[in-house]
Amino acid sequence: MSDRLAVISGGGTGIGAAVARGLVADGFDVLVVGRREDVLTDAAARISFECGRAGAVRPVVADLTDPDQVERVVDAVRDRSVDALVNNAGGYRGGDTATLAGTAAHWRANLDANVLTAVLLTEALRPALRRPGGRVVLVSSIAAQRGGGGAYSAAKAALHGWAYDLAAQLGPDQVTVNVVSPGYVADTEFFGDRMTPDGHAKRVAATLVGRAGTPDDVTAAVRYLVGPDAGYVTGQVLGVNGGSVLGR
Ligand SMILES: NC(=O)c1ccc[n+]([C@@H]2O[C@H](COP(=O)([O-])OP(=O)(O)OC[C@H]3O[C@@H](n4cnc5c(N)ncnc54)[C@H](OP(=O)(O)O)[C@@H]3O)[C@@H](O)[C@H]2O)c1
Repeated sequence: MSDRLAVISGGGTGIGAAVARGLVADGFDVLVVGRREDVLTDAAARISFECGRAGAVRPVVADLTDPDQVERVVDAVRDRSVDALVNNAGGYRGGDTATLAGTAAHWRANLDANVLTAVLLTEALRPALRRPGGRVVLVSSIAAQRGGGGAYSAAKAALHGWAYDLAAQLGPDQVTVNVVSPGYVADTEFFGDRMTPDGHAKRVAATLVGRAGTPDDVTAAVRYLVGPDAGYVTGQVLGVNGGSVLGR
């Protein structure tokens, strides 16, 4: 068992699974949280095996929009301190917005998936954050900075404002809070069957580096922010977008 513990929401797939692998390599024990037990169990076993540390990653099945289920994460942490909390769960939620009722449901679904998941998990683990030295990371999106995703953009943007308050509240305890804002990242479940060859090409063309991002690109930013060299970095938004949005 490591003396450092990370909790990663949405850690069973895509960016979250890559972050889990990176943090195990950095010596953390990791709890991965998500709704699908089979996905989490497979990811936990695979990453632990690949990193040569049996049991390094453990699954916690919870829908983080449900306060009662969030308590499962608190139970899994037990009396340990949380060195790194990576709020990565989320995604775009579609819906029929032809009626006001449909519009309300669509907005609530996006706010639930992207804001409430992070707020509830962070509030639940706030007492357990290591003091001094704890790290909180919120995974936002380029959509927060340049729009394009409607309710999803607005939900991700909400994380930024909240991160600034949280950074102010936790700063005196030497706990940092930062936002990582990815651009287009291929090879995750994010786009499902929504991505087309044209959509892919358009997103790649919007970068300055001429390629899609990878989960490992985002992982590198998270590893820096939760690592020992980032103790003076808090309340910041770090874009990982290949230059698709400049300096915001
Ligand atoms: N891929 C991109 O281009 C891109 C760009 C910008 C930002 N992002 C953001 O990056 C983050 C990771 O996305 P990804 O690309 O890696 O896509 P992904 O593979 O779909 O990952 C999303 C993860 O969140 C989990 N999740 C969703 N709702 C949840 C809930 N209510 N409770 C617990 N877990 C939940 C999912 O697991 P379950 O379904 O099993 O719960 C899944 O593991 C998301 O916040 C996304 O908005 C992605």
